[in-house]
Amino acid sequence: MTAASGHAFTAAELETGRLLFARGWDFFHAAASLESLPAMKGLEIAFAGRSNVGKSSLINSLTGQKALARTSHTPGRTQELIFFGAGGPLSIVDMPGYGYAQAPKAKVQEWTGLIHAFLRGRANLARVYLLIDARHGLKSADTAVLDTLDESAVSYAAVLTKADQVPARALEEVRDAVRATLAKRPASYPDIIATSSRTGSGMPELRAAIARLLAERGA
Ligand code: GTP
Ligand code: MG
Repeated sequence: MTAASGHAFTAAELETGRLLFARGWDFFHAAASLESLPAMKGLEIAFAGRSNVGKSSLINSLTGQKALARTSHTPGRTQELIFFGAGGPLSIVDMPGYGYAQAPKAKVQEWTGLIHAFLRGRANLARVYLLIDARHGLKSADTAVLDTLDESAVSYAAVLTKADQVPARALEEVRDAVRATLAKRPASYPDIIATSSRTGSGMPELRAAIARLLAERGA
């Protein structure tokens, strides 16, 4: 068992998670509009969060594939919904970020609309992971997305990113603060895993959590 994430997983769950992400994950679709989404098949999980929070890096770290999702140090790198699959029942969706981005305003507005429409209307979306920079905690830009998630009753869980950038004690403080805010929101899942794409910390737990979700949904 490990409780590093604030949640306990059995050795068997950690192993199931490891195997799920040890498959060869591939890009299979990019959508810049609702009209160009791929057909719904199996279950999807999506990674959402402010621009530059580390969504694409987290997908690379989870899959152990350095260049699967495109990353950049400038906010606004991912500009479409990017779908990855591994031949099984699960697809992973990398999302554009919201909040500040180094891109034309009209474009940012367009993809922000797409984010909300996708989160609201995708029937096979099994869970959204809302990524939060461990250095900053929840920001005002997160509120609109939290509102959309609660309104659409999509299951979602917060994940802290860049845990390598904060001391252990500050990490616990930000985790407690996020937990307290989300406790007031109906659709949020109480466990918050702290991760680092740089060191890989939290990845075994996040893989296990996703594998558990698939098992719960009978996939
Ligand atoms: P957008 O697509 O622009 O919304 O960004 P994103 O959320 O996909 O972020 P991305 O993965 O592109 O990473 C943004 C920056 O954060 C890059 O410079 C990454 O190297 C850095 N980064 C991501 N994860 C971590 C982490 O765990 N630790 C540290 N130290 N840096 C990270
Ligand atoms: Mg990205």
